[in-house]
Amino acid sequence: MQLGLAGKVALVAGAGRGLGRAVAVALGTEGARVALVARTLAELEVTAQAVRAAGGEATAVPADLTDERAVTAALGVIEATLGPPTILVWSAASFFTPARLHTVPPAELRRVLDLDLVAPAALVQRLLPGMMLAAHGRVVLVGSLAARGGVRGGTAYAAAKAGLLGLARGVAADYGRYGITANVVTLSFVDTERLALRLGGSAEARDRLTRATATRRIPTPAECAAPIVFLCSGPASAVTGAELEATGGAHLNTLV
Ligand SMILES: NC(=O)c1ccc[n+]([C@@H]2O[C@H](COP(=O)([O-])OP(=O)(O)OC[C@H]3O[C@@H](n4cnc5c(N)ncnc54)[C@H](OP(=O)(O)O)[C@@H]3O)[C@@H](O)[C@H]2O)c1
Repeated sequence: MQLGLAGKVALVAGAGRGLGRAVAVALGTEGARVALVARTLAELEVTAQAVRAAGGEATAVPADLTDERAVTAALGVIEATLGPPTILVWSAASFFTPARLHTVPPAELRRVLDLDLVAPAALVQRLLPGMMLAAHGRVVLVGSLAARGGVRGGTAYAAAKAGLLGLARGVAADYGRYGITANVVTLSFVDTERLALRLGGSAEARDRLTRATATRRIPTPAECAAPIVFLCSGPASAVTGAELEATGGAHLNTLV
C-alpha cells in the first residue's frame, strides 16, 4: 500500500523520546518532512539523527507547547524551513506525581490539563487554516485507557485524555469537508522510558502489566507508531472521529 506521505509536512509534538521519537522515525521513513517539537533540544537532535539515519528529513524545533508565544515562534520556524504542517501527531504528555484529586494543588491540576488537553486543542486550532488551504489534514492524538477506566492518582491526566476524544470527534465533524481527519490512538502501556520510570524497576509490576495484555507483551513504541502512521496516511481518508486501541488487547477483558 502506498501511504502517500512523501513530501507531506508533519509536526510531531513530544518527539524527543518514547513514542514520539518512534512516530517521527516512521513518518520520516515514509518520506514525510518531519518537524520535531518538545522542550529538550538535545533529545530532539537524537530523534532528528534517527530520522535522517532512516533516510528521512527532520528539523528539531524546541518549544514549550503550553507557551503560546513559544508555539508561535516554533510554527514560524517550521513554516519557513519545511512549510505549513498538514499532519499533526500529538504525543506529548505531562509527568505527574500520583495523588488523589483532593490533595492536588490547583496549579498542578491546571498544569496537567494545560499540557494534556488545552495545548493540543490550541495547536490543532493553529494548524487548521493551513490544512483547510491545502484541502488536506491529518490529526492523530495519542490517548490512554485512563480516559475509559480512570487511573489511580491521575484524575487530571485521565480527564485530559478523555477530552482528547471529544477534541478529535469535534474536529472530525467540523472539518471533514476540507479533507481533514482527526482520530485518537489509545494506548495502555508502551515500553518507553516513561513506563520504566513509572515501574521503578519492579519486575513484578512489569509482569502484572504484561499479563493484562492479550498478546502477553507490552507493546513497543514502533508497534504503536505503526497505526498512528497509517492514520496519517492518504489511504486512511475515510477513518475519522475514531478511537483505535493499540494496547496489545489490554482494553479487553482477559480475566475470564
Ligand atoms: N508510555 C506509556 O506507557 C503510555 C501509556 C498510555 C499513554 N501514553 C501516551 O503516549 C504519549 C507518549 O508517551 P511517552 O511514553 O512517549 O512519553 P514521554 O517519554 O514522557 O515523552 C513525552 C514527550 O513530550 C514532551 N513534552 C513534555 N512536556 C512538554 C511541553 N510542555 N512542551 C513540549 N513538549 C513536551 C517531552 O519532552 P520534554 O520533556 O523535553 O519537553 C517528550 O518528548 C503520551 O501522550 C502519553 O500520555 C503513554
